[in-house]
Amino acid sequence: MLTDDKVIEQFAVNHDRLFAGKSPRISTKAAAAAQQFLKKDVLSHFAYEERYIFPGLLRAGLGAEVANDVAEIRKDHRALIKEIKELTALLAKEKLTSEDVVVLREAMRAFGKHLQRHAVKENKLFPSLV
Ligand SMILES: [Fe+2]
Ligand SMILES: [Fe+2]
Repeated sequence: MLTDDKVIEQFAVNHDRLFAGKSPRISTKAAAAAQQFLKKDVLSHFAYEERYIFPGLLRAGLGAEVANDVAEIRKDHRALIKEIKELTALLAKEKLTSEDVVVLREAMRAFGKHLQRHAVKENKLFPSLV
């Protein structure tokens, strides 16, 4: 599984690959790779945290503040998963119009920002775990 740092690094790689071509062209290969990355790396990273890290933190009885932080991070996951669904729907389109590419670019930019913000929160709560 990729760590937060690697997820963000790979997000940047995928982002650059998607928008490397002459606008508004998006390569089919880059779109497929980005979908794969979101599903395999990002969603499974969230799932791992939901399954192992958060229950572990809550079981450790670290107090209300940690419980609140976990609840907030879980809320982030739900919002990020929604964004991933929207991104995936765009990336899966057979033919992207130039408007689609504008929307995709904006959605990717927002997602990257939210992902980074999320990783900062996690890093405060469970540094060096994942
Ligand atoms: Fe994480
Ligand atoms: Fe997370």
